[in-house]
Amino acid sequence: MTSLPLLLLAVSAASVLAESTVYWREQFDDGDAWTSRWVESKHKTDYGKFVLSAGKFYGDTEKDKGLQTSQDARFFAMSSRFDDFSNKGQPLVIQFTVKHEQNIDCGGGYIKLFPSDLNQEDMHGDSTYNIMFGPDICGPGTKKVHVIFNYKGKNHLINKDIRCKDDEYTHLYTLIVNPDNTYEVKIDNKKVESGSLEDDWDFLPPKKIKDPEAKKPEDWDDREKIPDPDDKKPEDWDKPENIPDPDAKKPDDWDDEMDGEWEPPMVTNPDYRGEWKPKEIDNPAYKGKWIHPEIDNPEYTADSEIYKYDSIGVIGLDLWQMKIVIINSGTIFDNFLITNDPNLAEEVGNESWDKTRDAEKKMKEKQEEEERKNREEEDKKKREDAKEAVDEEEEDEDEEEEEEREEDEEEEEEDEEEGTESPLKDEL
Ligand SMILES: *[C@@H]1O[C@H](CO)[C@@H](O)[C@H](O)[C@H]1NC(C)=O
Repeated sequence: MTSLPLLLLAVSAASVLAESTVYWREQFDDGDAWTSRWVESKHKTDYGKFVLSAGKFYGDTEKDKGLQTSQDARFFAMSSRFDDFSNKGQPLVIQFTVKHEQNIDCGGGYIKLFPSDLNQEDMHGDSTYNIMFGPDICGPGTKKVHVIFNYKGKNHLINKDIRCKDDEYTHLYTLIVNPDNTYEVKIDNKKVESGSLEDDWDFLPPKKIKDPEAKKPEDWDDREKIPDPDDKKPEDWDKPENIPDPDAKKPDDWDDEMDGEWEPPMVTNPDYRGEWKPKEIDNPAYKGKWIHPEIDNPEYTADSEIYKYDSIGVIGLDLWQMKIVIINSGTIFDNFLITNDPNLAEEVGNESWDKTRDAEKKMKEKQEEEERKNREEEDKKKREDAKEAVDEEEEDEDEEEEEEREEDEEEEEEDEEEGTESPLKDEL
């Protein structure tokens, strides 16, 4: 009977573990207060500025406010600190939204999760981080979601290709890292990739290697087919490839003395059969392909805690953005969440990103419709102006002719005047 309380204790311990913890959340819904939570790096002097903005179009003017990159072709480096934690024994969920409303050419939309010993004022591209996650676009060639883990001091990129969104709307990016060394990547609350950390990154050397001691036996016959030893070349096989044209005739006006001895041109021999080769038969001594035996790799050590980071304490935006054409707005980051509860993250995604995205789309479509109308009207006006200009030109031509006549008359008058003035001019 003592087992019951013990069981209850175990259950309640498990439920405590399963309790969800929000390590950090940032929604930029308190005006300028975010500036006290975010630290700009001073590693370089010319970082681009982040501004608080919902952008050109949005679903909710307040809720959709986020950090926007506001200058082109710049590096950006800002970070925010929270209470240091370890993801040991728990899922780790990183989630945020990215909107490239400027139709980005080249630039990052990812976050970096740092250990708490990061010096935020000196954060830069080479600062050691734990995880880098999020979309990265550069030209038509690079449109991927980075999932980079620092493992024992080295950064490892995922072996799989995860495509990111490249339109101008807000998208929700979620990374889940589980304590059983599995992971999941979601975009817009839908799973786009998942698997095992060990399989999809090269954290560990391979488990098995080819046995360096093993060698293919000298007498191993791995020829599946061989030439038939009994096949013989037929006696009448060999024929010349080219023969003198049997239909050619010496021209009547051929002069042997002048032109040399006449020879018919060569043509392809229809009886020519090419090089003879014996036919192929199954090799009776074939042993199959030799397979190099594998052994356990002595370099390999299993690690059941690949997923684990002892210290997570800062989230950073450390990126650069390019745009050839100068525009005045950029990528917007919003709805940051770091938690141990994938379900909570999904719910938060539903309550934030999913709630405003339809309105965002409608607003953009309305703007595009208005722009289209304005363009059409401008074009129409331009066409009318052009037509008027042509009409005026024709009128102008008539006027010009008249003016020319008048000018001629004036010149004649001037000449007369000049005649009276000239002696004075000479004296001067
Ligand atoms: C989020 O929304 C989707 C679609 O409406 C729904 O299927 C899912 O259960 C929701 N998730 C949570 C955790 O509420």
